[in-house]
Amino acid sequence: MTFGFFDDEHKEYVITRPDTPLPWINYLGCQAYFGIISNTAGGYSFYRDARLRRITRYRYNNVPFDLGGRYIYLRDDGSGEYWSPSWQPTRHDLENYTCRHGMGYTVIGSRYRGIEAHTNYFVPLDENLEIWQLTITNQRSKRAGLSVFSSIEFCLWDAQDDATNFQRNFSIGQVEVEDGVIYHKTEYRERRNHFAYFACSGKVETFDTQREVFVGPYRDWERPVGVERGRLANSVAHGWAPIGAHHVKLKLEPGETQQIIFVLGYHENPQDQKFDPPESQTLNKKSVKPVIAKYLDSTHVNTAFEKLRQYWARLLGICQVETPDVHTDRLVNIWNAYQCMATFNLSRSASFYESGIGRGLGFRDSNQDLLGFVHMVPSRARERILDLAATQLPTGGAYHQYQPLTKRGNNDIGGNFNDDPHWLILGVAAYLKETGDWGILDEPVPYDNQPGSEQPLYEHLERSFKYTLDRLGPHGLPLIGRADWNDCLNLNCFSDTPGQSFQTTTNKDGKVAESVFIAGLFVLAGRELADVAQRRGLAEEARDCLAQVAKMEATIRQHGWDGEWFVRAYDDFGRKIGSKECLEGKIFIETQGFCVLAGVGLDDGTAVKSMESVSKYLATEHGIILQQPAYSKYYLELGEISSYPPGYKENAGIFCHNNPWVMIAETRVGNGDRAHDYYSRINPSAREPISDLHRCEPYVYAQMIAGRDAPTYGEAKNSWLTGTAAWNYYAITQWILGIRTSYDGLRISPVIPKSWRGFKATRIFRGVTYHIIVERAGEGNQVALRVDGVPIKGDMVPLPGEGRREVLVQATLS
Ligand code: GLC
Ligand code: GLC
Repeated sequence: MTFGFFDDEHKEYVITRPDTPLPWINYLGCQAYFGIISNTAGGYSFYRDARLRRITRYRYNNVPFDLGGRYIYLRDDGSGEYWSPSWQPTRHDLENYTCRHGMGYTVIGSRYRGIEAHTNYFVPLDENLEIWQLTITNQRSKRAGLSVFSSIEFCLWDAQDDATNFQRNFSIGQVEVEDGVIYHKTEYRERRNHFAYFACSGKVETFDTQREVFVGPYRDWERPVGVERGRLANSVAHGWAPIGAHHVKLKLEPGETQQIIFVLGYHENPQDQKFDPPESQTLNKKSVKPVIAKYLDSTHVNTAFEKLRQYWARLLGICQVETPDVHTDRLVNIWNAYQCMATFNLSRSASFYESGIGRGLGFRDSNQDLLGFVHMVPSRARERILDLAATQLPTGGAYHQYQPLTKRGNNDIGGNFNDDPHWLILGVAAYLKETGDWGILDEPVPYDNQPGSEQPLYEHLERSFKYTLDRLGPHGLPLIGRADWNDCLNLNCFSDTPGQSFQTTTNKDGKVAESVFIAGLFVLAGRELADVAQRRGLAEEARDCLAQVAKMEATIRQHGWDGEWFVRAYDDFGRKIGSKECLEGKIFIETQGFCVLAGVGLDDGTAVKSMESVSKYLATEHGIILQQPAYSKYYLELGEISSYPPGYKENAGIFCHNNPWVMIAETRVGNGDRAHDYYSRINPSAREPISDLHRCEPYVYAQMIAGRDAPTYGEAKNSWLTGTAAWNYYAITQWILGIRTSYDGLRISPVIPKSWRGFKATRIFRGVTYHIIVERAGEGNQVALRVDGVPIKGDMVPLPGEGRREVLVQATLS
């Protein structure tokens, strides 16, 4: 069953009924001002940091859970009837409801009793504001007299404090209203120099800024008294809950269309120019007024929208493919790349599954997000790398998370997640291969943000690598610390008290439990680092590095191989996890995928065996399960992983993030059929026909699909902000389609299904457009290349000479 359809030409998903199984959302903004918007206009906005600069309020765990948003009410002033053109919050039976989620914008429209209304919500590039462009058409045969009401609820900035500290917050809310513009200035009188504003292009008849006045006692957003009455009370909020609501009246002749623009924005004033006049307490509006005036003008709004469209056309144009599979094309060309932008911007901070008040940007997560983002805006990837590296600790370890606003490591969670530092090496390598910007390695970057501690970025990478060598366990494998990639494999915690953190309540000394996963990661990162060192002229470092890698590979063979698959870890008692010796959790996906993608076991048959075991024990029709058999009870010595009921999350859920590791691993053993089959099983577009089971958005990946041990087998959860986005993008583009960035050029090494006749692609790489045509002449993966008609040896298309902008690459597979 479906709830809409893909409109690939317009790069949109069109939802055709409002009651989707879960709110199906989109992101507005892709630079500094962000909003989440559901298909019924629910959601909230923030500037940079969802916790510290929340602009509009969100009530956690609400019912339905996207309630609260950017609501417009229309009222027929003849009959007094009112409704929401976005369905919520009044939930009338609308005609022709559609929600078009596009690249950075969402248009929600419907018709009710002959009145058609569409609202285009978007954030103009380089601005800290959002636009709601409302277009209303009277399709009745008679003149219509309508009242239009806008509404938003302001958050008192710190979203965590806003949701809890009522004894203070009920007394601090402040607004100003001038020329119909509502300014939210809570805490501006003291330590803030930012405020929010809500403006309207129509003639404001009345307004409200106090929630209780607008909504009315014992009512809710479904039936606001002000809307019912057809007139607002011009309330000015003092304390309690400041909101913004405008009221505009329209008269529409039959067939007539009118537009109203609403602008919700964020603005900062210089510290010494906060007030106007300076000795007053009145907001200085001098610098914000021109911005407001500009965007209340539809010409500017239309231009801004067009620019946004062009921006996305350019970004997506960097990599476009034409394959025999529509789901592959749709994801690569549109939605997966788009999701990579969201994960790059927000890491795991703000979605309907991440509250925006919890974690900020994750060190491990953000580094992995680069894999799917770096080709789009390399300059931002560069900045992110330097920010991340600055939260690295002098030991080479890293703060697990940091707040985007302050860019400081988060002390509550701290460090000691022993996989963390290696992801920096992988992130930097991906950046270097894409851009060839070797200068980044010389950038001075501090440790723990401490001034004076700056060292070249390259040294950060060396410390990352060394971090593991300083922390080897009894078998010579890396000690796991609080957790490795699997946040829930907590082998040093032994938590028996409700409410304790599984990650930070460490109570074992951490000298025994080891991770085979980190060993695989170390092998991959070590190879990357050696390559970088070599190219920096550090031959000896490169050699040392490879020697350590070889040693680790030998250790994996000796202590990390279980006969049919790679072991997962050793616990605090030195016992195997992920082995046939175990009663439950005998085989895990992470080490199969990661060891093989790192190249372990390619030469002795173990890689192939490991892949066979994945297919036999872990692969299901809905994706590859994290481990089997599921843990049926809580194991003190394993931690959070066994806290989940079987089939969910890390306990035998289909954790989509690591499925692409297996896809890449399958390409490494040459099995394109399987690689693409695994790709298709979790491809959200391919799953669209089962939207009633899958339940999350069919246009983006979710973190998890319930595994076969779960009663809800096949149901997805936690959509949008997941490493799944970057890894799938990387797996399909660079390994299955095989268009792989490298230091010396673009490698063309597809490992595609046997049944494919070939595919075409365009890839812009270091300023050159590569037109790539791949054709099958036989069933294998052997590549013969012609570059601009000339046959060349190997699978590497070298960088063309100065001035060349277009290259034709023909690849024949046999
Ligand atoms: C979540 C975390 C990520 C972790 C994964 C597995 O996606 O954001 O850091 O690797 O879960 O536990
Ligand atoms: C990751 C895991 C989640 C766990 C969390 C702990 O996000 O996916 O299951 O609760 O880490 O920080």
